[in-house]
Amino acid sequence: MHASVKGMYDLLPGSAGGSVELRQRLERCSAEIFETFGYREIRTPLLEEKALFVKSIGDETDIVTKEMFAFRDRGGRDVALRPEGTAPIVRAYLEANLHKTAPFQKFYYIGPMFRAERPQAGRMRQFHQIGAEAIGSHDPAIDAEMILLMMTVLDASRLKGQTLRLNNLGCRSDKARLSKKLKELFSGKKALLCEDCRKRLETNPLRVIDCKKENCRSVVRGALASLEFLCPNCAGHFSVVRKYLDLAGVQYVIDPYIVRGLDYYTGTVFEVSHPDLGAQDALGAGGRYDNLVSDLGGPSLGAVGFALGVERMLIAAAKQGATAFAGKTPPPVFIATLGEEARKKGFELVNALRSVGVACEMDYEGKSLKAQMRKADDMCAPLVVIVGDDELKSGSAVIRDMKSKEQSSIKMDEVVDFMEERVKRKT
Ligand code: HAM
Repeated sequence: MHASVKGMYDLLPGSAGGSVELRQRLERCSAEIFETFGYREIRTPLLEEKALFVKSIGDETDIVTKEMFAFRDRGGRDVALRPEGTAPIVRAYLEANLHKTAPFQKFYYIGPMFRAERPQAGRMRQFHQIGAEAIGSHDPAIDAEMILLMMTVLDASRLKGQTLRLNNLGCRSDKARLSKKLKELFSGKKALLCEDCRKRLETNPLRVIDCKKENCRSVVRGALASLEFLCPNCAGHFSVVRKYLDLAGVQYVIDPYIVRGLDYYTGTVFEVSHPDLGAQDALGAGGRYDNLVSDLGGPSLGAVGFALGVERMLIAAAKQGATAFAGKTPPPVFIATLGEEARKKGFELVNALRSVGVACEMDYEGKSLKAQMRKADDMCAPLVVIVGDDELKSGSAVIRDMKSKEQSSIKMDEVVDFMEERVKRKT
């Protein structure tokens, strides 16, 4: 027997392991919201050149140094399973020349991402993100739209108690200024920092702010709140984003400690966390990445996006008993047959019912009539159509109401209309 690879999980139908149905509902509902907001779906390959991620996420980040599933393929190319969706989408945008033909694009995506992190609750090596990217605009209104979109998807999942944290990292020169300041501030306190943060202080001081270790946090705390490092342009942008959010009634807190673990961010950054998630409490996150398009060889274009973690949304929803995605698919009508000829008629009925949209099942395991009835019961089928040789001869079928246990006879050629009518009445 083989087991799935560490940190990667099967998603089975029904309640066994992960429930695919729940995800399908979440995905459909999100897709509808995205489309209402004018976003269109984009699908990029799971495998990309490794260099794409090194260049965009940053060669000193945890994702690139520790977490990528990267390998050399048979052609000697260095490739990696995508750890996130933003860089591949910008690559696809440029490769399709959209920057020349239709520079403003709004995309959404739903799919698996891969990070070789230490698995724990809410952290897996193959996980799924629902995300959106708007490329080709510096307008603060699009930052606000993106945040509103993310919160709308969460609201639709009936999650409650999440907190949206907002910050602005400034443009590239603001970030450089902040990094320099932080380096000066923390250099005298190096001994208090963890080993990773001592290194980060040299390579990427901003990342020290993000460290979850208590010692590092106490060094960082207080240091940032007093720092004024935004240029007038970035400060202005930030205040307009906030005005738009206020107009839309979005609740948020300003948090100068949100710096994000990917280097491409500039300007607006945000994270949404949920109290029921424990250590891995980020439901989703995003922000602007105004230099990424040009860093990857395109023109200078503004861009902003977010991604929500599907597994974390489902964990939080389950803890809260949130029901938006928990509705059951209607149980199927069951066609039970007895005898070879009746089975053929049953097969015909199943197809006729399905073609008018009535969910329908039959036996494929050669079970006895009694066992078929048991199976119908297990499936919670409300009605069973019974077809045997006698029924075939008389051109009728028996309909059994599984709840009341009442049985009645119906003409064979009326079964489809009867069932369709019953199902429609229920919906
Ligand atoms: P991120 O913060 O790295 O951002 O990931 C977004 C979300 O994905 C997290 O908040 C979390 O819910 C989920 N997630 C990340 N890693 C794992 C994991 N190992 N297991 C389970 N869930 C996980 C990005 O990926 C950016 N591309 C977001 C973005 C889009 N920024 C701009 N556009």
